[in-house]
Amino acid sequence: MSLIDIQSPRHCFRTAAGPVWALDGVSLAIRAGEFVAVMGPSGSGKSTFMSILGCLDRPTEGRYRLAGVDVASLAADRLAALRNRGIDFVFQSFNLLPRATALENVGLPLIDRPMRASERRRCALAMLECLGLADRAGHMPSQLSGGQQQRVAIARALVGEPLVLLADEPTVALDSRTGGEILDLFRKFNAEGLTIVMVTHDAGVAARAGRTVTFRDGRVAPPNGAPHAFAPPNGAPHTFAPPNGAPHIFAPPNGAPPIVAIGEH
Ligand SMILES: Nc1ncnc2c1ncn2[C@@H]1O[C@H](COP(=O)(O)OP(=O)(O)O)[C@@H](O)[C@H]1O
Ligand SMILES: [Mg+2]
Repeated sequence: MSLIDIQSPRHCFRTAAGPVWALDGVSLAIRAGEFVAVMGPSGSGKSTFMSILGCLDRPTEGRYRLAGVDVASLAADRLAALRNRGIDFVFQSFNLLPRATALENVGLPLIDRPMRASERRRCALAMLECLGLADRAGHMPSQLSGGQQQRVAIARALVGEPLVLLADEPTVALDSRTGGEILDLFRKFNAEGLTIVMVTHDAGVAARAGRTVTFRDGRVAPPNGAPHAFAPPNGAPHTFAPPNGAPHIFAPPNGAPPIVAIGEH
């Protein structure tokens, strides 16, 4: 069973200038233990997709199952619990609380859990140690370098043992060496079984993930030159292999919206 199973989500933002379709029919399955890079030009829907994966937003249309649970069917409290326990985020801008120490920042996700303060501190410290930052536990974010702050943010994301780590451009604010260290950590945690979905615009960064999914105009583009399943409008499925370098999105001749189905690779 896929850990993440998203079927044809479409997502619309209502703006003063009219509706903006940020996602327009995305079907994707991610198995437990995968490390997936999400690429695509600015405005192609990557962050919107991550917000839906992280249950921060619900798709306007389509279905999203996380660990077999239909997210749309959950009441607000169960959704909050899933978000708290199941999934966590790392952002490009670290998002640490500026007036809390590294240790306090890492302990934040555990605050609602039935555990003693001493136990919470122990878990947070163990996680900081795991990221090589035990000696910085008492430091404020402003006293840490960018790479150290991102490692604190990763420790905070992992301390609750989430099913999935979502990272939106986690290395973009870092120099390439420090970014490489963050990727080494992701690969280490992935090798230990953590599922990771990471947005990046850097092909070198994406190459270090297990597979890459490319977004274009709110849709998942098929891998270059690879055959993919194309369902024509009359419903008779057949396999359509775009010639190398052909446009990714195949538009049916009658002007109907293109249908692109991507299976597991
Ligand atoms: N809150 C919003 N309100 C209106 N439009 C939005 C909002 N967020 C994103 N969009 C639009 O949705 C599309 C996809 O945006 P986004 O998911 O941020 O793309 P990416 O992360 O790939 O740059 C863009 O056209 C963007 O302008
Ligand atoms: Mg974005």
